[in-house]
Amino acid sequence: MDINEVKKRLGSEFGYTFENTKPILQELGLDKNAKLLDVGTGMGKMAITLALHGYKVLTGELESDESEYAKQNWLESAKKVGVDHLITYKPFNAEKMPFEDELFDAIFISGALHHINDRQATFNESVRVLKSNGVICIFEPKPRSVTYIRANKFPDHPDAEDPRVYNKELQLPVEIKETSFHDVYIFHKKT
Ligand SMILES: C[S@@+](CC[C@H](N)C(=O)[O-])C[C@H]1O[C@@H](n2cnc3c(N)ncnc32)[C@H](O)[C@@H]1O
Repeated sequence: MDINEVKKRLGSEFGYTFENTKPILQELGLDKNAKLLDVGTGMGKMAITLALHGYKVLTGELESDESEYAKQNWLESAKKVGVDHLITYKPFNAEKMPFEDELFDAIFISGALHHINDRQATFNESVRVLKSNGVICIFEPKPRSVTYIRANKFPDHPDAEDPRVYNKELQLPVEIKETSFHDVYIFHKKT
């Protein structure tokens, strides 16, 4: 599906995530059968973007989260672009994930890390459930994007995080990419 069709069916926020994530996914070159985890479902922008690129994805968020950031009708949106069959939803706590070691090829945490209480535990858990040679892709808004979000949508939105803070002990190799909205931190789990 092209960007204009995504914008028409889901609006510009989804269109934007779709457009900006595309070059990152192209560079990652993940296998189409890769096992992907999306942490922090929210509106489902990242899960739907991954599915629109042909990937199957497991997504979830904290079951008890009643904030304005959670449970934002991802299924309805996924149906509008015909990718609901590629997305599985399972509520979970990122701080203590209900997954076995080394299960996923790639983990996406988009606009979510700064909403999670224990970010160190989330980082460590992500590494635990990631296969060797897998990647953790953390999308965090740029400072000007946080200003925009506060002005236009969520006045109390938290500051963005620099996830490298949580990598001090493990020292995974990390690359940083940029979109116009996000800084994207890609951690590589090497054997
Ligand atoms: C702004 S939303 C993320 C946006 C979403 N990734 C998207 O692409 O539309 C923040 C998400 O983080 C989730 N979250 C917060 N704490 C969490 C935790 N401990 N475990 C799992 N998800 C959590 C919230 O429930 C919410 O779904």
